[in-house]
This record gives sequence, C-alpha cells and structure tokens, in this order.
Amino acid sequence: MDCSFLSLQGKVALVTGASRGIGKAVALCFADAGADLGIASRKIEDLKVVGDEVRKMGRRCTEVATHARYPNELKNLVEKIMEAFGRIDILVNNAASNPAMGPLIDTEEKIYDHIMETNLKGYFVLSQYVGRVMRDQKQGVIINISSAGGVSPAEGLGPYCISKAGINMLTKAMALEMGPYNVRVNAIAPRIVKTDFSKALWTNEKLMEREFKSTPLKCVATPEEIAQTALYLASSAANYMTGHIVVVNGGAFF
Ligand SMILES: NC(=O)c1ccc[n+]([C@@H]2O[C@H](COP(=O)([O-])OP(=O)(O)OC[C@H]3O[C@@H](n4cnc5c(N)ncnc54)[C@H](OP(=O)(O)O)[C@@H]3O)[C@@H](O)[C@H]2O)c1
Repeated sequence: MDCSFLSLQGKVALVTGASRGIGKAVALCFADAGADLGIASRKIEDLKVVGDEVRKMGRRCTEVATHARYPNELKNLVEKIMEAFGRIDILVNNAASNPAMGPLIDTEEKIYDHIMETNLKGYFVLSQYVGRVMRDQKQGVIINISSAGGVSPAEGLGPYCISKAGINMLTKAMALEMGPYNVRVNAIAPRIVKTDFSKALWTNEKLMEREFKSTPLKCVATPEEIAQTALYLASSAANYMTGHIVVVNGGAFF
C-alpha cells in the first residue's frame, strides 16, 4: 500500500514548546516525514539541541526563543520563520503551562490571568499571525494541542481546564472561518502523557491505579503517540477533516 499521503516532504512546520515533551516529539516526527522546521520555546539552548537533531535528519531548522505569553514575541517568531522559509504550511500550537493547582474559588486572579494569557491567548495570537500567512497562501493546517481537561473537568486544574475548553472553541471557530481559504484547524486532546509537565501524576502509583480502572488501555500515552496523531492531522490523509477535537486518551471513560 502506498502511504505517501503521510509525507510532509516540502512542507514548513512551526511547532511551539518544541524543546521537550510532546512538542519535541512532534518536531522530530514531522522532520522524519520530510518537513523543514521552525521551533520555539523560552530557552534557546534547549531548542538548539532539538534543532541539531532535525539537521542530522537532513532537514532545515530555525530556532527562535519565544515566550508564548507575549504577543510581540509571537509576532517576531512568525517574522523569523517567514524570513527563513518564506512560508508556513503547518502550525502546531503546543506551548502551555499550569503554574498552580487548587480550587477555583481560591485561585488568585494573577494565576488565572497567567494561565489564560499563556495557554488560550498565546494560541489565539499565534493563530492570527500564522492564519494571515495561510490565508494568503490559500493553504495551511493548524493543530492545537488541547487536553482531555478541556472536555471534562479535572479537580484542582480549573483554570487550566477552562483555558483548554477555550482552545477547543478557538479550534472550531477558526475552522469555520478558515475553511474557505483551504486552511484546516483541528485539536488533539490527550489525557495523561509521559512528560515533565504531568510527572506528578504518572509517578503517583495510587493515582495511576485509579486512573487505569477507567482506562481500557491501562497506560498513559507517550509523546510519540501524540506526535503520530499530529502527523495524521497535518498530512493529506486528513484533507477532509477540520473543526475536530481528537481525544487521545486510551479509551478513558470518566
Ligand atoms: N503531559 C500531559 O499529560 C498533557 C496532557 C494533556 C495535554 N497536554 C498539553 O500538551 C502540551 C505540551 O505539554 P508537555 O507535556 O509536552 O509539556 P513539557 O514537557 O513540560 O514541555 C513544555 C514545552 O513548552 C515550553 N513552554 C512552557 N511554557 C512556555 C511559555 N510560557 N512560552 C513558550 N514556551 C513554553 C517548554 O520549554 P521552555 O520551558 O524552555 O519554554 C517546553 O518546550 C501543553 O499544551 C499541555 O497542556 C499535556
């Protein structure tokens, strides 16, 4: 069977939060599928390590230190990638944070604002800048890394879940508006993925015992498994898919 429809040969992909975890796995998977890469996160030295791996695979890579919370840095990111490649075919919005846990009614306003600005506004602003490029190109794919927490609430993660629910609607609203320009917009909603971000969860044996009672596949996801879903959505295999929130959760029912 010819599976060349999964190829990203000749494409330029921009991935945020690409220095580790899911973003790094997506960047390396896309490079393996043939794409050139623009990668971003706050620490340039960590990005360079990933960039070197991409170059070893024979692909081009431009690293840009970028804080997802600051619109001027996101504007600079898009300008740098356009200078390097002249186009952006795929955007993966992935950089997000969750600096605090606790009940919603005790959440400080500055924590709430921090989470909304980084996670939801960060995806929104970058989608605007890249969306304009894609509108002019009359072609593009945007993939938002959301969370199962954006579909059903998780205790102690209220503001984070609200930001991810917002990302789900951002995905659907942008898909509606960008479809006529041949730009597809989808989201991936993982549950627990084995990265630094959720280490406190997947290293907690008692919690995992409870988790797996309601998870048919009895394990958490690897970053590579999320990257493979992103590859499908980015490729022409998903040409007729837009506006979807693809839940990747081992079949968890809660
Ligand atoms: N892991 C999970 O269980 C899980 C489950 C559902 C959804 N997700 C989502 O998956 C995405 C990636 O998470 P992950 O698990 O791969 O996390 P991770 O391993 O902690 O990696 C996060 C990446 O984002 C960058 N980053 C963090 N804050 C940033 C900021 N303010 N501005 C720019 N870059 C920033 C980090 O680099 P720097 O620190 O250098 O900036 C790093 O490259 C997030 O959107 C998260 O909400 C994760």
